[in-house]
Amino acid sequence: MFNARITGTGSYLPEKIVSNKDFESILDTSDEWIYARTGIKQRHVIAPHETTSSMAEIAANNALQAAGVDASEIDLIIVGTSTPDRVFPSTACLLQNKLGTGDCVAFDVQAACSGFIYGLGIANQFIKAGGAKKALIIGAEANSRIMNYEDRTTCVIFGDGAGAVVVEASEETGILSTHMNSDGQYQDLLYVNNPIKDQKQDGAQAYMTMHGNDVYKVAVKTLSRIVDETLEANGMVKSDVDWLIPHQANIRIINSVAKKLKMPMDKVVVTIAEQGNTSAASVPLALDKAVRDGRIKPGETVLMEAFGGGFVWGSALVTM
Ligand code: ACO
Repeated sequence: MFNARITGTGSYLPEKIVSNKDFESILDTSDEWIYARTGIKQRHVIAPHETTSSMAEIAANNALQAAGVDASEIDLIIVGTSTPDRVFPSTACLLQNKLGTGDCVAFDVQAACSGFIYGLGIANQFIKAGGAKKALIIGAEANSRIMNYEDRTTCVIFGDGAGAVVVEASEETGILSTHMNSDGQYQDLLYVNNPIKDQKQDGAQAYMTMHGNDVYKVAVKTLSRIVDETLEANGMVKSDVDWLIPHQANIRIINSVAKKLKMPMDKVVVTIAEQGNTSAASVPLALDKAVRDGRIKPGETVLMEAFGGGFVWGSALVTM
């Protein structure tokens, strides 16, 4: 049986940046409120000609290049997204066509902010079971397209972008374990309405609704728990982890999980100030940043975790 190892990372952020100050002229909000409550200073926003698959394509090509893998070698593509280009075909299928891979397995995972972690978990199982040898896992989101720009409780928080990894079958150690969970009883705390159903009724668009304070409380509790569960499953202790890559939802949530892990903040990869919450893209975006700026080195142990609408949550413990 092979291990599954991350051999390359890549990312893409749209050129346009919207600062907190930019919101002050259209909403009853302030740079001070947004930064103090979330840690966000700015977010990237997709251009009209761009799509989730076009962002995913750039991130994927960067990851392929880093891994030294040609697109034609890829036999599995998983895109974690809640903002697909189309209801179907999947964004993974559109990406498969753009990259020009062979006729590989390609599908989307809809697990809100945990979409990338779910994708990594599925790829890990595929590779260990012998069903794939070289996989592309992407988290990509055009969140600005599901924002109601009159709702200050959501639109100041989310940003757009894409992050990708190449995962290959390997005899070396790689992904140590992945963990995926869900609990649908919380479905009304964080959701996007169904545009297909609603359009038939009143032409409504899809918008995100979030009961932030209630989400916050469950997120802190759940993420702290999953950190313990992940280490326990591997017979490891907190000090065995070199880097924490948390989902970038809120700096206060990140701080409390880091505290629980007794992890100094210089060992936590934080991108929220510059990128906001990019949902499924946030973990691979942060991973790529820290790999490319030389913080994360080969052989180091990285704990990734995410939490999102559903609720769905998950983690991955990985040797790079
Ligand atoms: N500017 C100014 N005031 C605001 C804004 C804003 N942008 N947004 C809300 N407020 C107001 C509220 O109306 C409220 O006013 P009131 O007291 O008069 O009613 C007050 O600020 C406090 O609101 P809370 O919702 O209690 O603020 P909180 O401190 O909880 O911060 C936040 C809100 C940032 C959303 C936080 O709750 C949070 O981060 N929650 C978790 C989000 C998360 O983890 N999501 C999961 C992943 S995302 C995904 O899956 C897609």
